[in-house]
Amino acid sequence: MVRSTGIKKLKSAIFISGNGSNMKNLFNFSKKKKSPIVVDLVISSNKRANGVQFLKKNKIYFEIFNFKQKNSDEKKILKILKKREIHLICLAGFMKILSGSFIKKFNGKIVNIHPSLLPKYKGLNTHERVILNKEKFSGCTVHIVNSKLDSGKIIMQKKLRVSNRDNPETLSRKILKLEHLLYPKALKKLLFKP
Ligand code: GRF
Repeated sequence: MVRSTGIKKLKSAIFISGNGSNMKNLFNFSKKKKSPIVVDLVISSNKRANGVQFLKKNKIYFEIFNFKQKNSDEKKILKILKKREIHLICLAGFMKILSGSFIKKFNGKIVNIHPSLLPKYKGLNTHERVILNKEKFSGCTVHIVNSKLDSGKIIMQKKLRVSNRDNPETLSRKILKLEHLLYPKALKKLLFKP
């Protein structure tokens, strides 16, 4: 991993699929003096993603790839990343699974945020499963992406107590707030030289 020297911010890409609240949060964070990243590019797998409006409004360079032809889309994306000298990819609510060969090319330089306390509840519908299993705690995790789903090295986690009045929607809202606190912190931890 190339680390930030604190002087020059790392050129980063954010990958999204939907709401893009984590992307917005990371973009706002990137504007701060103490941020180790600059958001150079956003890739959205969905042209109707809410986040796309934000990108237009803020004049952030973005590209849409629906991943229907995953192989060729990934190749095109890799070209763009290379051309724009991207050093870090932040997956933020990105609902597509990147191929092993794509991940290899960016080995150790892709991070993801997942709405559970990994290694528990990998994959989809985490909040439903947490409620169903009457877990006392849940939370979110920022981790390095490797070729196994939601299994790479954990950078940081935040946890909260699940109330017995919570349902998947209330829990998801609470955890999303935590995600917005966690992602910037985890990037600082990962990228700043000690
Ligand atoms: C977040 O909970 C993220 O962790 C999960 O999907 C949700 C998307 O949120 N993978 P947003 O698109 O960043 O608002």
